[in-house]
Amino acid sequence: MKIDVLTLFPEMFAPLKMSIIGRAEKKGIVEINAINIRDYSTDKHMKCDDLPYGGGAGMVMTPQPIVDCVRAVDPENKAKRIYMSPKGRTLSVDIAKELAKEENLLFLCGHYEGVDERALEICGFEDLSIGDYVLTGGELASMVVIDALLRFLPGVLGSDASALDESFSEGLLEYPQYTRPVVFEGLEVPDVLLSGHHANIDKWRREQAQELTLRKRPDIIKNDN
Ligand code: ADE
Repeated sequence: MKIDVLTLFPEMFAPLKMSIIGRAEKKGIVEINAINIRDYSTDKHMKCDDLPYGGGAGMVMTPQPIVDCVRAVDPENKAKRIYMSPKGRTLSVDIAKELAKEENLLFLCGHYEGVDERALEICGFEDLSIGDYVLTGGELASMVVIDALLRFLPGVLGSDASALDESFSEGLLEYPQYTRPVVFEGLEVPDVLLSGHHANIDKWRREQAQELTLRKRPDIIKNDN
């Protein structure tokens, strides 16, 4: 998969070079490019923002650098184009899985008061939100989306099964996990997990997941659980 992120702050994407996502890139499963929109400005001072028509607070990102940058990065219009914005559908595990099926993704990160609407229209961007709050820019939001979707690409996690086992995948939160030592500050690992009896362990985990979900997130329960 190839992911291009258009931003005025490409240095913000350093975290994607680390840990699991960084390893996925080294393995060649994904290529992530943070592209500086400013490099495409034809303004003599490389300006990328201006005052909003009609007045109001803040600055708006001008359309020219964005449209030229999109055309340079995705000349054949192959990528699914996503504009990070609180106006969009809210990210969910289903949307993350859907995006993981794409070959090419192009994210646009807005800053300041937003982006000139014509840039969004011309390039055919779809809005995507990560929740009902407003961030200072789309950079952190796009990293959340990229992290959430890459976990569904084969080879990104240690085993392909792990993303499916986890919270939300089956409409249930994940069961509690334990590792060594058996006793820590007086608290013991549940006996069943030490028993080696896989059917009992599976049953215990399913019951725990159901109980936890009912208690903490009854809103996500699906009927077949
Ligand atoms: N940009 C600013 N706020 C955002 C949000 N909640 N989701 C996605 N992009 C954003």
